[in-house]
Amino acid sequence: MSLQIQSDVSLKPYNTFGVDVRARLFAQAHTDGDVREALAYAAQHQLQLMVVGGGSNLLLTHDIDALVLRMASRGIRITHEDCGTAVVEAEAGEPWHPFVQQMLARGLAGLENLSLIPGTVGAAPMQNIGAYGVEVKDVFHSLTALDRQTGELREFSLDECAFGYRDSVFKHQTGRWLILRVRFKLSFAATLHLEYGPVRQRLQEQGITEPTPMHVSRAICAIRGEKLPDPAVLGNAGSFFKNPVVPAALAQRIRDLHPGLVAYAQPDGQMKLAAGWLIEQAGWKGFREGDAGVHALQSLVLVNYGSASGLELLNLARRIQADILERFGVVLEMEPNLY
Ligand code: EPU
Repeated sequence: MSLQIQSDVSLKPYNTFGVDVRARLFAQAHTDGDVREALAYAAQHQLQLMVVGGGSNLLLTHDIDALVLRMASRGIRITHEDCGTAVVEAEAGEPWHPFVQQMLARGLAGLENLSLIPGTVGAAPMQNIGAYGVEVKDVFHSLTALDRQTGELREFSLDECAFGYRDSVFKHQTGRWLILRVRFKLSFAATLHLEYGPVRQRLQEQGITEPTPMHVSRAICAIRGEKLPDPAVLGNAGSFFKNPVVPAALAQRIRDLHPGLVAYAQPDGQMKLAAGWLIEQAGWKGFREGDAGVHALQSLVLVNYGSASGLELLNLARRIQADILERFGVVLEMEPNLY
């Protein structure tokens, strides 16, 4: 038995909001064997098993009466390589940004736009993390997950993951699949994604005319660093709301009243609205009540100034949702998983 199970553990260090709730039991899984042990222990003691990665997409609103299992498995290997490409496999517990950096240092491109996203490799496919014109689905090869119902291993191809905007099959079958390792299709010859204006602009300002993936990564780290708070300094879970996709007619009605509306046409004719813009227009940017607030530089991010509870953060989120619905007729969906 290698799994160390502790009781009554504060989860403050294990969620980037820094919310202080307690877990009845807590353990860290370093191997597949640990994961199986945790599942067996939970079944034997009739406990729920709650799996967490980096805790960066999580809002905890109460003590957790379960065995909380933190994925801490490590390991990165190239499983296939031919002329220009490589398939790289990483264990679920690998921290995301260091993994991205390691790939770039090895000359492997594809993940640069996803630099500095908090969280772990195993959590990345869950909500198909994305930034600056690239989503995990664009570099995804396959993954191995454990079926918690049968104990069997299952491989998922790109199609089987049913990736969408911050969405995947794993989000819909909550509690069924436990992602153990993920494979990415990376390239030694870079095809850069510079569609996103601020990235191009930042490179231009630096006089970089022939950017490398490393240049793009540095530019993105700088842009993120300016707008998004570092969870080590100020508790947060990145974007708290998804950018809502609405019928074009609704977007037009809003634009008639608010000509500055930021909206992007979708392939299906609908419009994706910048939720941060809506929230800022509604006057919430920089709002603070107690220790729960809306980030002063990016209204899509809720922050914990110190000792906000999960419920205080949730109440703030609900007030924002109600206000945006009333003002604009738009439903804002929360991005983090709620417990
Ligand atoms: N905006 C405002 N006010 C604000 C925030 C944004 O007017 O307070 C406007 C900006 O001026 C810009 C537009 O809204 O015109 C979009 O803002 P930004 O480029 O910052 O991106 P975002 O829509 O706020 C999304 C992702 C981020 C990702 C960035 C960059 C979602 C929910 N969020 O944010 O992802 O880093 O694009 O690609 O899709 C995350 O999911 O945790 C996350 C940080």
